[in-house]
Amino acid sequence: MKIAIGSDHAAYEFKEQIKEYILNKGHQVSDFGTYSKESVDYCDYGFAVGEAVAKGEFECGILCCGTGVGISIAANKVKGIRCIVCSEPYSAKLSREHNNTNVLSLGGRVIGIELAKMIIDEWLNTPFEGGRHAARIEKIAAYENTH
Ligand code: RB5
Repeated sequence: MKIAIGSDHAAYEFKEQIKEYILNKGHQVSDFGTYSKESVDYCDYGFAVGEAVAKGEFECGILCCGTGVGISIAANKVKGIRCIVCSEPYSAKLSREHNNTNVLSLGGRVIGIELAKMIIDEWLNTPFEGGRHAARIEKIAAYENTH
């Protein structure tokens, strides 16, 4: 898969570990930064990855900040983005099956890297179920397009 990743300074090292993990799984990864532990604004990276995914340049995105919250809020402001902030694999799986999430956000100060890997595996390997769930996604998109 083509995956866009990004983080702020709080999750820089965490993001580097995740990048190595998904590269080793054979995915194509583009890193939108940040590239050091110097303080930055998480929203810039949420917008950048969100826009790249929304434009169809990547199949999905993975974001990280301290809690995963701020960067997910920013990504969810981009039209067409459905970003989950997630700390366990069950919600990661269901967010794909039911919500067709296209960005995953993780908290580098909340979970350890091994749990993050489990969440990523579940999220990347679970397809959208469609059916009744598709109509609900379409309703959200219609709201987004008219408000
Ligand atoms: C940065 O200090 C921190 O606020 C950020 O990484 C994130 O947790 C925001 O939601």
